[in-house]
Amino acid sequence: MNLDKTIDTRKSIRKFKTTKKPNWKKIVEAIDAAIKAPLAGNIPNLKFILVDDPEKIQLLAEAAQQDFISQCHYVVVAVSDDSQLVRAYDERGTRYARQQSGAAIENFLLKITEQGLATCWIGDFVDHQVKDILTIPDDLFIEAFFPIGYEFGNSKQRLKPRLDTRMYFNTWKEKYMVPTKKVEAI
Ligand SMILES: Cc1cc2nc3c(=O)[nH]c(=O)nc-3n(C[C@H](O)[C@H](O)[C@H](O)COP(=O)(O)O)c2cc1C
Repeated sequence: MNLDKTIDTRKSIRKFKTTKKPNWKKIVEAIDAAIKAPLAGNIPNLKFILVDDPEKIQLLAEAAQQDFISQCHYVVVAVSDDSQLVRAYDERGTRYARQQSGAAIENFLLKITEQGLATCWIGDFVDHQVKDILTIPDDLFIEAFFPIGYEFGNSKQRLKPRLDTRMYFNTWKEKYMVPTKKVEAI
């Protein structure tokens, strides 16, 4: 799949085939794509837990109060240790941690999509429950988790905003591009 097609076909999936189990090595490849995202000062913050224990997956579904999670064969949990970034950049380090986690997660989602797998970004959960299930230390931050499987059915793509409602040129709210210099664009 090329990049445009992968971006266009990515969608959040909330129904998984219970009879078809993905090869976990494909998920490892998606995590490998995630860790190649840009990092402030090249300082990594994220670690990933690949969960295949059905009991833990059930408990994660309960921690998020989202039943569909329990249908999947794997969950990937993205955990951030912000401390090195904060040491390097003070309070800005926390901002960088969230930004680079988002960049890593998007790489992960695109690689999952490219491999024909399905997932959904889960951001709504009780943090301490997830920490208890996976024995994650208290000082770490659970960025999100991702149930993974093959899509059951073929859900509709969500409507995306129109480009012209989302961008300006040169100044805030300027909707039109007025070339400023007579330099040929290539
Ligand atoms: C930060 C964040 C948190 C999210 N949390 C949840 C969640 O807890 N449960 C869920 O079903 N979807 C969650 N989503 C997925 C969004 O609902 C979904 O991306 C959005 O509806 C757009 O649909 P699409 O991903 O198919 O384009 C989350 C997405 C983001 C970016």
